[in-house]
Amino acid sequence: MEEKKTWMLAFCLFLQLLCSVSGLDRGEFPSSFLFGTSTSSYQIEGAYLEGNKSLSNWDVFTHIPGHIKDDSDGDIADDHYHLYMLLQCGFKQEDIELMHQLGVNAYRFSISWSRILPRGRFGKVNSVGITFYNRLIDALLLKGIQPFVTLNHYDVPQDLEDQYGAWLNPQIQKDFGHYADVCFKAFGKKVKYWSTLNEPNVVVILGFITGEYPPQHCSKPYGDCLSGDSNIEPYIAAHNIILAHATAVEIYKKKYQVKQGGSIGIAISARWYEPLRDIPADCLAVQRALAFDIAWFLDPVIFGEYPPEMRQVLSLRLPTFSSEDRRKLQHKLDFIGINHYTSKYVKDCIFSPCEGGKTESTAFVMSTGERNGIPIGTPTSMPDNYVFPDGMEKIIMYIMQRYNNIPMFITENGYAQGSTSNDPTTDMLNDTSRVEYLHGYLTSLTRAVRQGADVRGYFIWSLLDNFEWLYGYTQRFGLYHVNFETQERTPRLSAKWFKEFLEGPEVIERMNRDLECLRSIY
Ligand SMILES: *[C@@H]1O[C@H](CO)[C@@H](O)[C@H](O)[C@H]1NC(C)=O
Ligand SMILES: *[C@@H]1O[C@H](CO)[C@@H](O)[C@H](O)[C@H]1NC(C)=O
Repeated sequence: MEEKKTWMLAFCLFLQLLCSVSGLDRGEFPSSFLFGTSTSSYQIEGAYLEGNKSLSNWDVFTHIPGHIKDDSDGDIADDHYHLYMLLQCGFKQEDIELMHQLGVNAYRFSISWSRILPRGRFGKVNSVGITFYNRLIDALLLKGIQPFVTLNHYDVPQDLEDQYGAWLNPQIQKDFGHYADVCFKAFGKKVKYWSTLNEPNVVVILGFITGEYPPQHCSKPYGDCLSGDSNIEPYIAAHNIILAHATAVEIYKKKYQVKQGGSIGIAISARWYEPLRDIPADCLAVQRALAFDIAWFLDPVIFGEYPPEMRQVLSLRLPTFSSEDRRKLQHKLDFIGINHYTSKYVKDCIFSPCEGGKTESTAFVMSTGERNGIPIGTPTSMPDNYVFPDGMEKIIMYIMQRYNNIPMFITENGYAQGSTSNDPTTDMLNDTSRVEYLHGYLTSLTRAVRQGADVRGYFIWSLLDNFEWLYGYTQRFGLYHVNFETQERTPRLSAKWFKEFLEGPEVIERMNRDLECLRSIY
């Protein structure tokens, strides 16, 4: 008896310890805090030519052999478009049901521009596309899940690319405004969270400096492309993206916000940087790297100016905002979306020699994952993605301080397993590394919140394994494993972990009650 009692108490204490000492508790976040999963149209929808959708730039890009690691594309992807349509027939694997099972209260997804306006500005609004997203939104709300909608997550109607070069042409500002207007009008009564663009910094850096993403523009030494100029085009494209965002925000604030009562922001890819060496030059390099990555887009949309750290290096290569632009930029966004995965070291290249001729467009910094051969954190299957949980707290504090604690959402955070296998093997499902990653990053987020950071939500990338851009289907980010042949979804350990975390306070309370009960018995 005595032995049993001791064992029981030890077991209960262990469970308690697991929950309390870990410093991670759903109860620490307000009940209004959004906890969700994140996806994007091109990565999950499939049905790339159905419902009168037109081709996007990513449809065209992936169809050219050699562009994607496994020569795959998003033609079918997770077939979300069809599986969702099967909801009405009681299809059990339906994706909204998966989220409902997780117990999330929000879902971040993106609208495919070419489903809504197949011909960009030219041509009519596609009613099939409007119906698809309306039903999706209705189904989410029915399950108590808030739609958190991104207007543009990389995919642009190819027509705009062909007609005038998409982001390289100021015309796109007006067209993006028109597209946003159509969406606010069609969905705004039900959608309370709008994000204009996803990771414009990645779109510009990979599309116009290194040339790895469409439209594959670049010049040497940054990359090897058929056309483009890495010293000029990125600043033009960024300028148009910033003003396209401002156009959409102005339309929302003037025509819809009062009536619809929602909020609007932008989501930025936000890596953290640590100085490689403990010297002032590398600390300055960290500031430059952050400015060239994050403030490049956030300073203009919040302060109406490019960051001084960039102006100092690039001077007149950076465009200027006209008085009309400034007027548009006065409409402030309501929140900043932060996509954070990893951190790197940076080394100064102004005062120190660097390999590879690091120049203006890369802020005169060299970034690396290692210091003296030791990685900044455990490497993952995604190249350049290391596990460095402290980066979450640090990037939030940087953004909080630079932008006066504007409300923030962690719009993406997640962990990839590299695998081409469709089999939901034990190894694939027993994703303890992902659980550790999420646990570490969420704990770090909690530390930032305790210091006063106004963070209002956290979204895991991703609900499902999906089309991971240049990596195709070789990198799996999902809480649910997907067999891309049968489209079967299987929950991973991380899905169960997230569900338990979301049930948090109740679980801990229940355990406390059990403990009390056991104490009274023995
Ligand atoms: C697609 O558009 C054509 C006209 O361009 C129309 O005839 C057809 O019915 C539409 N398809 C659907 C599914 O609505
Ligand atoms: C899952 O992985 C952990 C460690 O990686 C291991 O201890 C555990 O036994 C595994 N569980 C199953 C069911 O394979």
